[in-house]
Amino acid sequence: MKIQTTAVHAGDRKRRGGSTPVTTPIYTASSYIYDNIEDLDKVFGHEMEGQSYARYNTPTNQALEELVTALESGAGSLACSSGMMALHIALLTGLTDRRRCVVAAKAMYGATIALLTNVLEPSGVEIHWADFCDLEALERVTTEARPGCLLVESISNPLLRVAQLDRVAEIAKGAGATLIVDSTFATPLLLRPLECGANMVVHSLTKYLSGHGDVLGGIVVSDAANLETLRTISRTIGPALGPFESYLVMRGIKTFALRVERQNQNACRVASWLATNANVERVFYLSDPKHPDARVVERMFEPGLYGAVVSFELKGAARDQVFRFMNSLKMIVPATSVGDVHSMMLYPVMSSHRELSPKHRERMGIKENLVRLSVGIEAVEDIIADLDQAFTDALG
Ligand SMILES: Cc1ncc(COP(=O)(O)O)c(C=O)c1O
Repeated sequence: MKIQTTAVHAGDRKRRGGSTPVTTPIYTASSYIYDNIEDLDKVFGHEMEGQSYARYNTPTNQALEELVTALESGAGSLACSSGMMALHIALLTGLTDRRRCVVAAKAMYGATIALLTNVLEPSGVEIHWADFCDLEALERVTTEARPGCLLVESISNPLLRVAQLDRVAEIAKGAGATLIVDSTFATPLLLRPLECGANMVVHSLTKYLSGHGDVLGGIVVSDAANLETLRTISRTIGPALGPFESYLVMRGIKTFALRVERQNQNACRVASWLATNANVERVFYLSDPKHPDARVVERMFEPGLYGAVVSFELKGAARDQVFRFMNSLKMIVPATSVGDVHSMMLYPVMSSHRELSPKHRERMGIKENLVRLSVGIEAVEDIIADLDQAFTDALG
């Protein structure tokens, strides 16, 4: 079945009593009863399928988990209250019974870097950083560090670096480490990391999969080997997504393929337009043949899809000019997220990578004049017209 079909069918239509709801209802119950206490005992003991308590699972989350598991070719999933919660639970799972050491990609979302350095490191986890696009360097760091876990984004935020996940998976396997991939920017339409050999995939459901800017959520999709540990840890910690949020995400996912295809097409047009604009110093977009990972993208992504984030540097602009440019936008929303139906612009220095020191940002290549555009599903002419008038208003 093609992913567009799976997105609208998987997870739904579970028979309840005498009829079958066409879409999954919102189950708000915190606990569940059975005809007799023996059956509840079997559910607690995992001898019988079913719900007992909402921290363990709900039918609404189970439907969502089944859907995303199918989209990512996993063995099972855990729906969480946010993308950051999903990353944290995936890392705890990946480190269980393994050396408490993570080799993480240098190019990542700021809060993920903060999770590693401000939460895991102080609790005794060793953190090493590597350029995952340089496989020799990654192999060297991995051999020296002997990590329990490797962590990378499939498309890095915000400079769009893409590692060869199949080769990274071989390095992880050789070291006996778990490979976790945050695939929020790629979505399963572009790339499915578990099919490349990763062990767990994380999504911020807040972004492309839900897609309407009205819900916070995350999910970990696991291979068979890590699933039981993931579930056991979650039963104690209680990271579960609420049923209302779960419903919204599932509703959003049914159109994710349509939205992401359109966003990708729009992003290609916007990136080409920006590349010829005199106000723009540099454009970061994956369809650009000069992008350092262009060949990797051609080999690994679905043909013709390059993602819907375009980052670019404003020529010679300091922070106040970037602010003026963003204040001049009339339609593009100056908000801190990606993947919604509406186009959004974010200033990484101010938001996604604010917690990092200026030196750290400089090392990552995130300059004071860099903005990140999440391209929406609007008519592309209107997106370009808005950028054009903002350039003239603020910089022209
Ligand atoms: C790549 C990536 N991963 C994870 C997250 C965290 O997701 P959430 O905000 O849902 O916790 C974000 C948020 O921007 C992100 O961009």
